Amino acid sequence: SDIGKGTYPFYMLKEIDEQPAVMRKLSQIYADETGKVVMDDAIIQALIKADRIYIIAAGTSYNAGYASKYLLEELVEKPVELGIASEWGYNMPRLSEKPFFIFLSQSGETADSRQVLVKANELGIPSLTVTNVPGSTLSREANFTLLLHAGPEIAVASTKAYTAQIAVLAFLAKATGTAIANKKAANFDVVHELSLVAQSIEATLSEKALIESKVTGLLATTRNAFYIGRGQDYYVAMEASLKLKEISYIQCEGFAAGELKHGTIALIEENTPVLALISNNPKVASHTRGNVSEVVARGANVVTIVEQDAAIEGDDIVINNVHPYLSSISMVIPTQLIAYYASLHRGLDVDKPRNLAKSVTVE
Ligand code: G6P
Repeated sequence: SDIGKGTYPFYMLKEIDEQPAVMRKLSQIYADETGKVVMDDAIIQALIKADRIYIIAAGTSYNAGYASKYLLEELVEKPVELGIASEWGYNMPRLSEKPFFIFLSQSGETADSRQVLVKANELGIPSLTVTNVPGSTLSREANFTLLLHAGPEIAVASTKAYTAQIAVLAFLAKATGTAIANKKAANFDVVHELSLVAQSIEATLSEKALIESKVTGLLATTRNAFYIGRGQDYYVAMEASLKLKEISYIQCEGFAAGELKHGTIALIEENTPVLALISNNPKVASHTRGNVSEVVARGANVVTIVEQDAAIEGDDIVINNVHPYLSSISMVIPTQLIAYYASLHRGLDVDKPRNLAKSVTVE
């Protein structure tokens, strides 16, 4: 098996590095040589019959659901609602008439998610599990399964499963959008766009030393930090802050940048680290820049993580542009590395953070 660490000090770094290869592998598995998506038509038909998609998950998988919401809504033309598995097991909200449940779970064994699936099955709700583990409980008990093909993920902090989940849902969205003759789906060449994502990730991975240098001092001793962003970048901010919390124990929150002024900005003090995510979305990039100025004026130590076409002089980490549907994949990579280096420099066990388990099989 390929589950050795090789020359890597930690599995997490190895798994971060595997992401370009996972992106390319998914194109081989979910598309033919002409670029046409290859996927069980029964899944697509079930999705077409639904009036609303519910994504249920925990932890990083939940954040991957948010990162995929826009792309699914655009191409599948249905509202997408997110559910925290541990909440929905006991507090299922009022559902639409024809719901379709998607369970995102790296392990396929998360008890909180399974509890919702058991209820969904009782109610006769069609379901799809997107998981890295063939034959896992959530895979066996759902109507359909799509596999992540990311290879074993050993580090407790999930990295390649998150990016693979978004990519697999991109194939599902493309296939379903094509089946309903959605124009945006026709124009979205998922194989090509994912190959650009793989290249963008590679470019970021070749800048590890730069990324490390930008955050080593910043995150060495701080108790707290903030990620901010708008739109897709807000969803990445949620995942970026979870990753940093999990392995560096820095209290970190991901905020919608526009919400700062409604409360959070009270927390900004001299030298508070604020990491701003700015992908190339002209509708919001300048507004996030405005929020950066506001926190700088209050003494924050800002690191900007920016897509090339939105970059300006003085930005800290610049990454190659990708298709806006997929920007969460490339934007999350520097934040994975930031969490990794923060944990490393604090002398912590990157792969085995205290109090956490890789998969939680109790409610
Ligand atoms: C645990 C792990 C997280 C993971 C979550 C969901 O809490 O520590 O890293 O995101 O479970 O796991 P799943 O296997 O369902 O994606």
